[in-house]
Amino acid sequence: MQKKNATREELLKNKKDTNLSDKEQQIENDKDVGENKEAKKKEISKMSVEAKLWFGPYLHIITSRPKDADQLLTNFLEKSSFFRYADMCFGNGLVTSQVEVWRGRKKMIIPTFNQKILNSYTDALQKHSKRFVSDVEKSYDGNSIQLLPKIWKHSLDGFCETFADIDADLVVGQDQYLTNVRRFEELVLERCLKPWLYPNFTFKHSPLGKETTKLSENIWPFVTQLMNLKKMTLCDNSDDDLKKKRHLNHLFSLLAEKYMEEEDVAAELQNMILASTETTSYSSGFTFLALAMHPEIQKNVQNELDSIFGTSDRDITLEDVINMEYLERVIKESLRLFPSVPFVMRNIDKTIEIDSHVFPAGADIVVAIMNIHMRPDLWPDPWKFDPDRFLPEEAEKRHRCAFMPFGHGSRVCAGVKIAMTMMKITLSTLLRKYDVKPVLYKSLKEIQLDYAVFMMPKDECQVVLEKRKK
Ligand code: HEM
Repeated sequence: MQKKNATREELLKNKKDTNLSDKEQQIENDKDVGENKEAKKKEISKMSVEAKLWFGPYLHIITSRPKDADQLLTNFLEKSSFFRYADMCFGNGLVTSQVEVWRGRKKMIIPTFNQKILNSYTDALQKHSKRFVSDVEKSYDGNSIQLLPKIWKHSLDGFCETFADIDADLVVGQDQYLTNVRRFEELVLERCLKPWLYPNFTFKHSPLGKETTKLSENIWPFVTQLMNLKKMTLCDNSDDDLKKKRHLNHLFSLLAEKYMEEEDVAAELQNMILASTETTSYSSGFTFLALAMHPEIQKNVQNELDSIFGTSDRDITLEDVINMEYLERVIKESLRLFPSVPFVMRNIDKTIEIDSHVFPAGADIVVAIMNIHMRPDLWPDPWKFDPDRFLPEEAEKRHRCAFMPFGHGSRVCAGVKIAMTMMKITLSTLLRKYDVKPVLYKSLKEIQLDYAVFMMPKDECQVVLEKRKK
């Protein structure tokens, strides 16, 4: 588990290093080492991680080697024991569920990620990004503004209109729901760090357990509200095939055909809201911060937008989204430095040996995505914000797990493409009109991080806005 409220550098320093021989071998294999060998060796030993930690009865092995990530995430699909602590509010859905539930569900649900269906979301996503910008404009006092709460709120509305196929204007309680979810996530982290609260009995009677129960009672009605709104419009006999296959519509047809229970639909919906809106909002927030600190890169992004839109303020089309190639590289570089899912975890049921490292059966493996993304042997000068690392010719030189913000293996993120579209639309809608400038931080290393299930910027993405002069 990561420490809360630290800079990324502090988080990385806190990891133990017990695996030098392997890294030395890596250095020997690296043809570019040359004279810098000693310096590089020192740097690698500082950054790479192999630690074993006990949390109560659970052994956690942390790895930041792409080869381990590849083999472990390909061969093992069961999520860590800690995921059970999130059930009360996240439910047992695709992201959180145990393998036996996941297998059947994935087959049933994955058709809703068909590219044609996702492409049909562009207009609604655009509408809510415009609302995000006008909301920002209304509350901007000329000094600075925290973008994150607004990005998240409007991304939740966008989710309602796309995946849930509900009129977002009918939905109430978004802000309270998001506050409750955040608090719940903090409590999940706290429970993970307090082994005496692992047994349900002690947890239920603890102040933490009581607060969690209360939050859960407040969080689920939001999901029920969405389901009720959907039920009211289900008899709307739309013959639009793409609409019928939207996520919640599809879940309701599985319910009608008795493949799912009502509580399964609620869990899937809850899982999908959090998997899609929190991750994309935090990642967009980090990207705004990175661009605020790198005005020349921000200018490049805006030049690309100008080349697509000229001086017109017309709507974004799917083709425009595809043409935002530089912005895509910027987002990827931001996901490398600040992955909103900084690690993934698996419980392994068989002992596996990878390059003489033994991962024993029963252990929970933590694949430290954030650390892999900062290995100087994979990412020279790792703190440098350089979108060109993601030029196709550069990307193909790297190990396939050198960059894995969306995970890897069969349980890789189902929403990679739509996530990129969502972020491109949010970022470009604001950047077409405004320059963003930094407030609290001058460099990426200074950004304070908050972590509870997902990683976010502690300052809620505080920026100064200046109307663009074209
Ligand atoms: C920047 C945005 C996003 C990031 C960084 C991200 C990251 C991830 C990661 C790392 C996983 C794997 C977790 C694991 O292996 O334990 C995952 C799973 C998943 N994500 Fe995303 N995600 C993003 C956006 C989205 C969006 C927009 C959606 C849906 C619309 C989505 C839906 C899912 C689902 C359904 C899974 C579970 C897949 C499975 O277990 O079969 N994600 N995501």
